[in-house]
Amino acid sequence: MTMLRSVVLGCGSYLPERVLSNEELAGQVDTTDEWIVQRTGIRQRHIAATGEFTSHLGIAAAKAALSAAHVDAQTIDLIVVATSTPDLTFPATAVSVQAGLGITRGAAFDLQAVCSGFVYGIATVDALLRTGTYTRALVIGAETFSRILDWTDRTTCVLFGDGAAAVVLEAQQQPGTRDDRGILTTHLRSDGRHKSKLYVDGGPSSTQTVGHLRMEGRAVFKHAVAMITDVIEDAFRATGYTAADIDWFVPHQANKRIIDDSAHRLGIAPEKVVITVDMHGNTSAASIPLALNTAIRDGRIKKGDLVLLEAMGGGFTWGSALVRW
Ligand code: ACO
Repeated sequence: MTMLRSVVLGCGSYLPERVLSNEELAGQVDTTDEWIVQRTGIRQRHIAATGEFTSHLGIAAAKAALSAAHVDAQTIDLIVVATSTPDLTFPATAVSVQAGLGITRGAAFDLQAVCSGFVYGIATVDALLRTGTYTRALVIGAETFSRILDWTDRTTCVLFGDGAAAVVLEAQQQPGTRDDRGILTTHLRSDGRHKSKLYVDGGPSSTQTVGHLRMEGRAVFKHAVAMITDVIEDAFRATGYTAADIDWFVPHQANKRIIDDSAHRLGIAPEKVVITVDMHGNTSAASIPLALNTAIRDGRIKKGDLVLLEAMGGGFTWGSALVRW
């Protein structure tokens, strides 16, 4: 018996031109390149230009993904933008992306799950595609975190950056086995009791300001590895696959130490782990597709590979997805 699966047709990304190195940042706050690299693995981040909005980054990434997928924008009937840094409180950044791509059909909406936004996005779109209501979707992670950072707070401003990346997903009939191409399983979780450990201290309903990112770094770190491994074990249980079957582990790019600890705990070999946090810092919802795109471009991820995605972020929210490329 065949079944509909959401198959990845292509991936693309966009990083703003301006690069802010650790050395340059050390001239602005009391920090050093050595401290940042040792604690996080981050070496540089990209910063959006004045007048360059999250939607502009998202449009550029979407165009790159459409080009890689060899599909026309007019065939897209669903757009989801995962972001915590929308252009405006409303309308959704996704409708600006839709208009920027010249698309006037289908649906477009934003999804807010902070750093887990991309995994939440592909889980949501996968569910919609498998109903048969939509046929081709763009899932975009796009962020301008530089706009919500307190640039005088060295404990947070060194960690984040701006960027966007996207995938094109298509509903395709597959044989209905775990060897199918496409999204094989997704697992989403959240626990709002932790909401004050990583949050933005402003918003339309509470302060009528945009606010700045605040984080209890040590508390986030403590929970991250356990939550990540838990939700990945859910993916293994659902499919019968194990760490040994994974070709590529593409985690949320927040901190190299969290990634290394999670991979070690799960028994995933270091050479299977895709790490790009050194090049762009934590770009929240954009980080997983940015890493995916890097590993596709350099020839690591190929058609048929089993790719494991995971993320954890503010809320807390966390999730995993297992995809056959
Ligand atoms: N430069 C130099 N020193 C610093 C800096 C800095 N940028 N930031 C903090 N310090 C100092 C602190 O003040 C502290 O000094 P003290 O000992 O004199 O008090 C010392 O360094 C150690 O601080 P800790 O916070 O204990 O450092 P830690 O080893 O925990 O590393 C870090 C901090 C990198 C933030 C770590 O806790 C971490 O990675 N946490 C997870 C954060 C994360 O990944 N968040 C995102 C995940 S969710 C999402 O993506 C939204």
